[in-house]
Amino acid sequence: MRTYACAVSEPDTGAELQAFRRAAHALVDGVADHLAALPSRPVWQPLPDAVRERLLDLPLPERAATLDDLVATALRDVLPHAMGNGHPAFFGWVNPPPSPAGVMASLAAAAMNPSVVSGDHADVHLERAVVRWLAELVGFPHAPGAGLLTSGGSAATIVCLAGARNRALAAAGHDVRRDGLAGAPQLTAYVPAEAHSCVRRALELLGLGSDSMRELPLEGGRLDANGLRAQVGVDRASGAVPALLVGSAGTVNTGAIDPLEALGEVAAAEGLWFHVDGAYGAFGVLDPAIADRYRGMEGADSLVLDPHKWLGVPVDAGCALVKRADDLRDVFSLIPPYLRQDSDAAVGTFAEYGPEQTRPFRALKTWATIAARGRAGIAAQVARANALARELAALVEREPELELAAPPETSIVAFRARPAGCPPTRLDELNRALPEAVQARGRAFVTGTVFGGRETLRACILHPDTSSEQLATLVAEVVAAARDVPER
Ligand SMILES: Cc1ncc(COP(=O)(O)O)c(C=O)c1O
Repeated sequence: MRTYACAVSEPDTGAELQAFRRAAHALVDGVADHLAALPSRPVWQPLPDAVRERLLDLPLPERAATLDDLVATALRDVLPHAMGNGHPAFFGWVNPPPSPAGVMASLAAAAMNPSVVSGDHADVHLERAVVRWLAELVGFPHAPGAGLLTSGGSAATIVCLAGARNRALAAAGHDVRRDGLAGAPQLTAYVPAEAHSCVRRALELLGLGSDSMRELPLEGGRLDANGLRAQVGVDRASGAVPALLVGSAGTVNTGAIDPLEALGEVAAAEGLWFHVDGAYGAFGVLDPAIADRYRGMEGADSLVLDPHKWLGVPVDAGCALVKRADDLRDVFSLIPPYLRQDSDAAVGTFAEYGPEQTRPFRALKTWATIAARGRAGIAAQVARANALARELAALVEREPELELAAPPETSIVAFRARPAGCPPTRLDELNRALPEAVQARGRAFVTGTVFGGRETLRACILHPDTSSEQLATLVAEVVAAARDVPER
């Protein structure tokens, strides 16, 4: 028999942990210094060419680096070149800074590294509690099992709309899990024009096709219920199966809240699945000044919300909530013998309610973020952001070279520039170029969209430290950048 010499040395766990303790302490100090320095740095800057190339061309290391080296590299090459959302003058997309409690909890969650599916370990029970907390925060009825954390709003939307598809096809006598979509009746979805693109993507992915979408007219934020019901009748008469009605609890462009109660009534009358996208705006219901506008959200069949948006839970943390847990279990439950754990329990495993098997520990950072502020603290932060949005809207209206695109309902303000002397024919081109021009100046960060057919800027206020000072900076920067945008 041949013997092999083994040159592999045993790892010294004690020494490894000592190195971890030292390097991790240095990392925490470096991260705290980074966070402390953010407000006095430019909001965002393009990466220096040398750093970009260094990152892109990183060679695969042959030999092990020390943890101290990794910390030094991360602090030098990565943290200083962030997206900008840590800065209180960042108003882009829907990206808050991370809550410090959530950052801290992320380390502990990674140190445990469970797969949050089932079993008697803390992460599983904590996710169940946190999902219930999220439902309680926004006033959505909750039964055990009727919701789970996801990677974000887009993934949660796929989960919910899969429930809608399954229920509608089952009612039409079609078993989509067994037969796929071949031979299935054509489902129809009623979706407002301002719904987030993740709704369309989910419908495409689920095989309904974007042609299954009927645009739901919401003139001035009002629903023509009779018109919608007539359309449903026409679709039904033509052989389609009306299945889904979508509303937004805070649109991505302007933060508008759709008439959820009226939508829910039509959905109930027509037997449609009512889905509410509250990824950005559902937490707005915590602001007493606008809570009434959310009436009807609690009646939805499914609700998506994103703890990684207004709450500031470090990415990723989305959440799908449903009225009836079995609507998801009917879609996703599949238990092979090697995954039989908890399969006869009343609620079952998380993998029976969504597409993921191995699931990350998203609940710890979500728990920490909510617990570190409490319901009252979160409500105060939400109300403050909405008040700041109204203040920004007033500043825009007072500034002759800007105009408001829509009055803010939550914490998003949509507006446009109209510099003196700029011909109306050039305004669209100018407003399209403006976000990048503002970003490049480094003092505020805003992004653009198209709203009402016109190029528009939108400022989303989510940073707990944003104040009147940053609003004034944003207005001044947009006005100054608009005067400077070169003609093409
Ligand atoms: C209203 C709305 N819905 C859905 C989404 C998608 O969420 P996510 O980016 O977490 O997938 C967003 C993202 O900004 C959003 O604003």
